[in-house]
Amino acid sequence: MQNWHAIWNRRQGELGSDALQSLIELDGFDAGAGRIIAADWRAYVHLIAQRLHLQAGQGVYEVGCGAGAFLYALQELGVHIGGLDYSASLVAKASEVMPDGDFTHGEAVQMPLEPVYDVVLANSVFHYFPDQDYAAQVLQRMLDKATRMVAILEVPDLASRDEAERIRRDSLSPSAYEEKYRGLAHFYYDRSWFADFAAQRGYHCQVFDQCIPNYAQSPFRFNCLITK
Ligand SMILES: C[S@@+](CC[C@H](N)C(=O)[O-])C[C@H]1O[C@@H](n2cnc3c(N)ncnc32)[C@H](O)[C@@H]1O
Repeated sequence: MQNWHAIWNRRQGELGSDALQSLIELDGFDAGAGRIIAADWRAYVHLIAQRLHLQAGQGVYEVGCGAGAFLYALQELGVHIGGLDYSASLVAKASEVMPDGDFTHGEAVQMPLEPVYDVVLANSVFHYFPDQDYAAQVLQRMLDKATRMVAILEVPDLASRDEAERIRRDSLSPSAYEEKYRGLAHFYYDRSWFADFAAQRGYHCQVFDQCIPNYAQSPFRFNCLITK
């Protein structure tokens, strides 16, 4: 039986002429309904940076940073970056490409709480978690590490799970789908789960539709910003 950890640990590759595009592909946005091109990725990261009120010199830490595609586009804005991932090969690539970044190999639930960062985020990561208890532990740790805001981005919406799965399935041939996803499931979230989690701790929470241009999964994903 495959599992997501084994899949992510196998991913490796060299950078092509467009470094950001290579990192996006290494991070899994390379085929079928998951494909994203660099211009659309940059537009998305810039929009999120605006919503986070990020300014040059501030710090952003990413849980499940992979090879660092999200952080690479943020670093272009002058943001100081760090991240953690359980894929040794991907986090090594992030370190190689962004040598000034603070990168750690490890499980999300064990992310170091020091140093603290202005913003702690996770982009397209929570659906690989085994269950809601694990997600709650990671989210609490993100809140403990962030001084200002937490962002959970690219979360699969439970309300549109069937349609999202159908589109994912239809974007590949039946045999390619079976080979790629046998034994692998995404975990879907109710939008209210994040809102309730924040409210119980006295934090403000904003949930909004995903906004990655030309991305087939955008209609089925949402983003969540929690302000401390
Ligand atoms: C789709 S990629 C996204 C990478 C990056 N966040 C981005 O936006 O480009 C998902 C990443 O989450 C990581 N991941 C999944 N579950 C994890 C866990 N429990 N602990 C640490 N990393 C995890 C994977 O190794 C992979 O690099």
